Amino acid sequence: METEHKVYFKNSYNMSEIASNSIDLMITSPPYPMIEMWDQLFSSLNEEIKHSLEVEDSKKAFGLMHQELDKVWKEVARVLKLGGIACINIGDATRKIGKNFQLFPNHVQITNFFHNNDFIELPCILWRKPTNSPNKFLGSGMLPPHAYVTLEHEYILIFRKGSIKRKLPPKSENRYNSAFFWEERNKWFSDIWGDVRGTSQNLNKIHPKYRNLRERSAAFPLEIPFRLINMFSLYEDKILDPFWGMGTTSLASMISARNSIGYEINPNFMELFKKNMEKLRNLNNEININRLLQHIEFIKKYREKVKDIKYNSVHYKFPVITRQETDILLYIIKNYSEDKNKFNLSHQKFIFEL
Ligand SMILES: C[S@@+](CC[C@H](N)C(=O)[O-])C[C@H]1O[C@@H](n2cnc3c(N)ncnc32)[C@H](O)[C@@H]1O
Repeated sequence: METEHKVYFKNSYNMSEIASNSIDLMITSPPYPMIEMWDQLFSSLNEEIKHSLEVEDSKKAFGLMHQELDKVWKEVARVLKLGGIACINIGDATRKIGKNFQLFPNHVQITNFFHNNDFIELPCILWRKPTNSPNKFLGSGMLPPHAYVTLEHEYILIFRKGSIKRKLPPKSENRYNSAFFWEERNKWFSDIWGDVRGTSQNLNKIHPKYRNLRERSAAFPLEIPFRLINMFSLYEDKILDPFWGMGTTSLASMISARNSIGYEINPNFMELFKKNMEKLRNLNNEININRLLQHIEFIKKYREKVKDIKYNSVHYKFPVITRQETDILLYIIKNYSEDKNKFNLSHQKFIFEL
């Protein structure tokens, strides 16, 4: 199986390189409005945002920042196939502007856009982002009533373009091979993910030479796009990330044998992406082995309760709970070549024997 991964270092307001109705799944995490690390970026996109922040008109700044994101969502709406899914990782912001500490509910603004633009809202996921800082509690300390709740979660908003589900060819081999295990479904399709570990945000720690890229990487953990890709797409599908950052969505697409396209305004992240790519085959191997070993472990426990398991995996021989899991087939990256921000990968079937 062959896949292709392209990155365009330009603003995703205009994704003219992508044909309308051609993307199967969009996974992204935009810059978060009203989180200070993104003030400069939003101000560079619109002078009025800079001015609103200077005069502490926070509501106006918040609205204008979302207007900038909406330009990208509009393009996403154009390029997604009917029935295609959009997954957006976003956190709300809290901030003190002038004398007022307040919440800026980014997830509401984004949901409104998709609600008003012919998307169907699907149940979302909350994932917990632990904050260990001893100073995390804000407000009046132990004294009521002016203490504030700490935000330690982010949202993965999920929308489908149009009201009709994506049509798939009957008996599509890719669909059955892309199935997930029963116990993965139970974990991945629950609305709260408490087991996703954060990713290193300190670029200086990754390597001192990257510290000037920006203060924090703002990358999401690979586990997030990896799960979403497996939940909402098939092998060889096309995945888009219009806010590519360090390219985590592309890395997850490569590991999952999907094609990917990314847009990023800051070209300096390519070097870091290539560095991560060097480790990709090992990571792919590790992830596949873990998935299969965890399944075997799960089956062992399940057998203590249910002796008779009816189905067996065609490719891996171990038992599976449902008929839908029998054709699960994992792939591993065989090799890759690179040509000007474009990567071509070949994948081969993942062989696993105990
Ligand atoms: C939150 S980060 C994405 C992090 C990414 N998910 C990762 O794992 O590395 C948002 C990224 O979007 C980029 N960006 C912001 N506005 C953009 C735009 N209009 N077009 C393209 N890229 C943009 C920023 O430079 C930043 O790298």
